[in-house]
Amino acid sequence: MIDEAIEVRVEQPSDVAAIREVNRRAFAQDQEGEIVDALRARQAALLSLVATAGGRVVGHIMYSPLVVGGIVEGAALGPMAVLPEYQRQGIGSRLVEAGNRTLDEAGCPFVVVLGHAHFYPRFGFGPASAHGVTCEWDVPDDVFLLLVLDHEKTKGMSGLARYRHEFAEADAARSSIHIRRYSVDDAPAVVEAALESVADVQPWLPWCHAGYSIEESRAWLQTRAAAFDEGASFEFAIVSSEGSYLGACGLNQLDRVNKRANLGYWVRSGVTRRGVATAAVRALRDWGFSNTDLIRLEIVVAAGNLASQRVATNAGAVREGTLRRRLVLHGVAHDATIFSFTRPLQPGGEARHLTT
Ligand SMILES: CC(C)(COP(=O)(O)OP(=O)(O)OC[C@H]1O[C@@H](n2cnc3c(N)ncnc32)[C@H](O)[C@@H]1OP(=O)(O)O)[C@@H](O)C(=O)NCCC(=O)NCCS
Repeated sequence: MIDEAIEVRVEQPSDVAAIREVNRRAFAQDQEGEIVDALRARQAALLSLVATAGGRVVGHIMYSPLVVGGIVEGAALGPMAVLPEYQRQGIGSRLVEAGNRTLDEAGCPFVVVLGHAHFYPRFGFGPASAHGVTCEWDVPDDVFLLLVLDHEKTKGMSGLARYRHEFAEADAARSSIHIRRYSVDDAPAVVEAALESVADVQPWLPWCHAGYSIEESRAWLQTRAAAFDEGASFEFAIVSSEGSYLGACGLNQLDRVNKRANLGYWVRSGVTRRGVATAAVRALRDWGFSNTDLIRLEIVVAAGNLASQRVATNAGAVREGTLRRRLVLHGVAHDATIFSFTRPLQPGGEARHLTT
């Protein structure tokens, strides 16, 4: 047992480096600490508490806004971290109890957590699915948990729970990809990637053919640059952390009246099945909702394109149904499955700061 007194208090500016270290050691990686830093930098943390032992930070918990069904805003618990040598001594429980109590007193309607099924139920958390609340990531039912604090405000609440975009961005960083605007100089890389991928891509995207040339690519890139500047379509290259070209994604077929766009993507054959497309779709969704006034992003996938359907689902898009003979590919009309992202009704899940 620890013999120093444990104190739980609100994070101070001087705790930042220690909090990063607690997260790094507890998770044996930097990703959670980066999420904490990103949420703090955008002033998006609802609450950030530390546990200290003899004045030293040994534990940390953060809560950020989370929107369910595009309407009801509550809190997402996490990341939470305790230094390995201080684990299993009740410090995590003290943090959760203090955090949940503070949020309850501030009028927060509910708390969601993605965490251990044997730990969180003791604080009153139960499967979010029992409330019709789903997770944007593909996780087992018993680890996506919800605690109702205000039954009145959560009455009838259901739908997809959307975390702050800092979580998805950290995911994209982990898979080491980012999206960026095209330049005409990308033509050779686009051609090389397209020619490598004809067998996989051409069935679904007929522009990708064995004779695809630099001239064709350059002409397309030139028109896309102008279209981007005019706000007519937004095409991006997907690139690795080293800058190599992995594929493409974009928002196109804009419907200005209804503020709607098609969201498309492809990934070169050599790097498929590594989460590249899923991370790119999330990054593009966040870019779209932050940089345009679009309300609805649609992914229309031919019925037989199972990999693309997985990408849409894994990225958190909602499957809406099947559209009959919606996509003409190589002269044949195919049924298509439609998925969508919609802009949260409270844009970006704006931070609400709680005083403690
Ligand atoms: C669809 C495509 C973009 C996927 O890119 P990717 O980087 O491999 O995607 P991810 O790694 O993020 O996810 C691929 C998912 O599809 C699954 N998958 C791959 N091939 C599959 C197949 N033949 N059947 C079923 N699922 C398949 C993978 O297992 C993975 O799902 P999981 O993580 O749940 O296991 C890529 O294959 C591609 O460019 N296809 C041609 C163009 C295209 O179809 N674009 C979309 C048009 S709507």
